[in-house]
Amino acid sequence: MIDLLQPLANRLDIFFADPISRCVLLAAVLLAHFGLRLTFYNRLNSMGWKRATIKRTEKIAFAETWLTPLVLGWAFFQPISSWVRGESSFEMLPLGLLAYAAFCLVLGGLFGFLWLLWRPVWRIQHVPAKRSVELHDVSKQTGRTLARTRKCRWAAKLPMNQIFEMAVEEIELPVVGLPEQLDGYKIAHLSDIHLTGQVAPDFTAHAVSIATQWSPDLMALTGDIVDKQPCVAWLHDLFSPARAKDGCYFVLGNHDTRVSDPDVVRDRMTDAGWIDVGGKIETVSLRSVKCQLLGNEWPWFTRPDVAVMSESTVNFRLCLSHSPDQFDWCRRNGVDLMLAGHTHGGQGRLPLAGPILSPSWHGSRWASGDFYRSPTTMHVSRGLSGVHLLRIRCRPELSLITLRCPGS
Ligand SMILES: [Fe+2]
Repeated sequence: MIDLLQPLANRLDIFFADPISRCVLLAAVLLAHFGLRLTFYNRLNSMGWKRATIKRTEKIAFAETWLTPLVLGWAFFQPISSWVRGESSFEMLPLGLLAYAAFCLVLGGLFGFLWLLWRPVWRIQHVPAKRSVELHDVSKQTGRTLARTRKCRWAAKLPMNQIFEMAVEEIELPVVGLPEQLDGYKIAHLSDIHLTGQVAPDFTAHAVSIATQWSPDLMALTGDIVDKQPCVAWLHDLFSPARAKDGCYFVLGNHDTRVSDPDVVRDRMTDAGWIDVGGKIETVSLRSVKCQLLGNEWPWFTRPDVAVMSESTVNFRLCLSHSPDQFDWCRRNGVDLMLAGHTHGGQGRLPLAGPILSPSWHGSRWASGDFYRSPTTMHVSRGLSGVHLLRIRCRPELSLITLRCPGS
């Protein structure tokens, strides 16, 4: 131990004198180690990199996550165990081990604080939207078996798995900057359909049917439509029954890059009557209000040209974005309402703590829900499906949103 650190080691020996406090400190270091890897995993999956690069990095990171504590524990078992038993002081531990523990505690503490800060239970930057939720047992209501594969049948039987329990959520969403004429405007928002072939298309058909029966003014689909090439053939039949007074609009998501040509997905959706706004700006009149509809598919495809947006004078901007990470882009560009998906609500949510896994640069902060940061209100859907056949306390969501002027 170098002389400079001697006084610090002495103080730590006094503070962590007994074996119990040393066990707690060791547990905190391990928790920080794993928490930092989870932080990395969430950010990695928010990147616009090629899927193969992300998967390769993920495998290396997964191995490192487990190997680092195992190798360190094995290599320094003797000094660590005698320190935990209170038989030796901090200065007897290898300097590299102490440095790594300090790194984990400082950085893990910082990210841990931010993680705690953005827990849904605190409602920070959340919009107080009224929600009424109706649960649909889609299999019973359609009379169809939804699992198409043995893997899916097994997954659906797992206790607490909610993959087929569709939550139809009617949301009264206050939107700052909403023109009075648009008070009561109805948007059916679908996201993350994930046609993989594991789940029968009847599940998606049910969502489209319920959304259409609600008679929305507009229908929006925010990406991750299809994962597997054979399911591209399903798109026309699934989406052509959709109806909305001002049209049905869609953008693509990262999973739509998994088919051989994402442009074919755009073509099939367009053939089904949907309007592709990916990377585009559509100027439309909604209840005689001049509006812009924007499609943001960043970072996997394109996003609208900011120069074109700033030139026009419009009364309301609505952005469909696959990722909630484009919230700040929307805020910078005067978007009033942003609809997003991608994070699947975290796929699973702990009591009180909420979501942990979320492929976002902001971790699980915007995993699902309604948020406001001036001048943009954002609704993030939990989506309807996923490639992972597991949802715990995180039902598939069909959002039926009625826009409201705040205070109306
Ligand atoms: Fe998704």
